[in-house]
Amino acid sequence: MAKEEYAVDFSPLGRRALVGRGMTLLEAAHQAGVRLNAVCGGAGICGACRVRVVAGEVSPAVDAEAGIMADGFRLACQVRVLGDVRVDVPPESITAPQRVQIEGRESVVDFDPVVRVLDVTTDPPSLSDPRADSERLRQSLPMADDERMKLTFDRGALSQLPVVLRKGGWHVRVVMKGAEVIAVLPVGVAPLGLAVDVGTTKLAAYLVDLESGETLAAMGVMNPQIAYGDDVIARIASAMAGEAQGLELHRVLVEGLDGLAGDLCVQAGRDRGDVVEAVLAGNTCMQHLALGLPVSSLGLAPYVPVLSESYDLKARDLGAHWAPGASVHFLPSVAGFVGADHVAMILATAIHQSAEITLGLDIGTNTEIILAAGDRLLSCSCASGPAFEGAHIRDGMRAAPGAVERVRLGSGATGDFSIVEYQTIEDAPPVGICGSGLIDGVAVMLRAGVLRENGAMRSGHPRVRGSGRMAEFLLVPAGEREAPRDVAITRKDVQEVQLAKAAIRAGIEALLENAGLDAGRIERVVVAGAFGTYLDVDSALAIGMFPPLSRDRFVQAGNAAGTGSRMALVSRRCREAARDIASRIVYVELTMHPRFVELYAKALAFP
Ligand code: FES
Repeated sequence: MAKEEYAVDFSPLGRRALVGRGMTLLEAAHQAGVRLNAVCGGAGICGACRVRVVAGEVSPAVDAEAGIMADGFRLACQVRVLGDVRVDVPPESITAPQRVQIEGRESVVDFDPVVRVLDVTTDPPSLSDPRADSERLRQSLPMADDERMKLTFDRGALSQLPVVLRKGGWHVRVVMKGAEVIAVLPVGVAPLGLAVDVGTTKLAAYLVDLESGETLAAMGVMNPQIAYGDDVIARIASAMAGEAQGLELHRVLVEGLDGLAGDLCVQAGRDRGDVVEAVLAGNTCMQHLALGLPVSSLGLAPYVPVLSESYDLKARDLGAHWAPGASVHFLPSVAGFVGADHVAMILATAIHQSAEITLGLDIGTNTEIILAAGDRLLSCSCASGPAFEGAHIRDGMRAAPGAVERVRLGSGATGDFSIVEYQTIEDAPPVGICGSGLIDGVAVMLRAGVLRENGAMRSGHPRVRGSGRMAEFLLVPAGEREAPRDVAITRKDVQEVQLAKAAIRAGIEALLENAGLDAGRIERVVVAGAFGTYLDVDSALAIGMFPPLSRDRFVQAGNAAGTGSRMALVSRRCREAARDIASRIVYVELTMHPRFVELYAKALAFP
């Protein structure tokens, strides 16, 4: 007799539902608290609820699933549970807030941090043994004599030593980096590490236990420099306005990092004075501003950085309030617009070791692209602009509750292209459109025959209002689902999307030309970064942002720069690998590419 209840496990979210036979996977997801996209409400039309059935017995595929079945993918709303089932949920199939959980996915690396911990017991001093505290500690450390002789003490660690020694009854925990004692902690307290992806818009940080390798807390906050300009160019201009402004940008960033470390420690129930090591991976401008270096040379051709190699300094020299002897490691960068965040992304996704011809993209205001072919690594950076962050778009907004994040043609099956279905973040009343919704929207307009190849809107569609440069495509009329006002995509918004996607596509084509490869040779495409995670790859393919490759060659990697910085925090080998990646990359300056303008002009058109 068949069982009455089956377990449905959703990975990598780690959620489980116990459901009755015949229930759909979409219903099971709701029950498990997994917020799957369901733009058409389960009618099998929108394709937004794609999941992969990894194991277990489910109902056979229905007609609506034809075309998406490769690699075990199914439509969750059409699949009925007939046994215990395991389901893999791709990031693009869940709503934005839950994606963050997937972005924090741990990658497996050898745990081999740059710091080591030694627990030591010393004899208390007496009139017959009045040795200095440092000498007493040196003699008690469990190490060979030649190592003992080379031992040095950080000034900050020395300042902690007398108090911690006496409070701990002459038992202490010594944290060493190489031959230097960098912190003295009470026995039983694990030293902490901080890994930060320093983005122009956002700081994403992870707090890691450096004794176990476990990530204790993760958090993303806005980069406080946002008050000084939206993008890198604006920040450079701000910093160049005078010495005081440059210092101000440095100060607010360090304050932001310091505050973030404090918040993470509160979340983990720890003290920020236990943070002994940090790894920072930012774009070149952010690394310069964090270090307090001049950025003027980054703003003018040939965009030369002051520093590209990895760099270590004491956290106190930045003004951070962590362990008094804590250090900060800046990962190496490649060029003025290909930064350490790109290196960290490559490290996390192992593109540099790939046997396949692999393309990697971190899409943002600047999009960095890497092409790995054989042992060649070619990189470039293209100015894709802020459209995908909702800026310069009339009804644009960041990915926040109420943003339209998914758009589908409602009744493609019946040929009625006037019905448009959409989904907002957290199902809140629609108030605007974010980058992923914008790309979906433009893809829908193409599919409905609304857009010409050059981006002009055809009149005649029931959702198109106005004409010529004033034309717009109505997504949400005011009042629908409590929308406070209309949400539409204007002709100018379409143009912004064209400029952004053309920059990315032309960058890809330029790298392919330099490598002497056709796009069809690309075996794997890794799309990283927060926006890359929200992006619907099918829509991006439809608007021509990527070369026309089959969907199964694309992988969405989440915040890979954050993962890469965490790997460099817990593994010396990964830190070495980052240096190796940076030295191997051949940077392609697109403004010098003989055919870039031609490639860009060609990429402006829709397929
Ligand atoms: Fe499954 Fe739309 S919810 S196809």
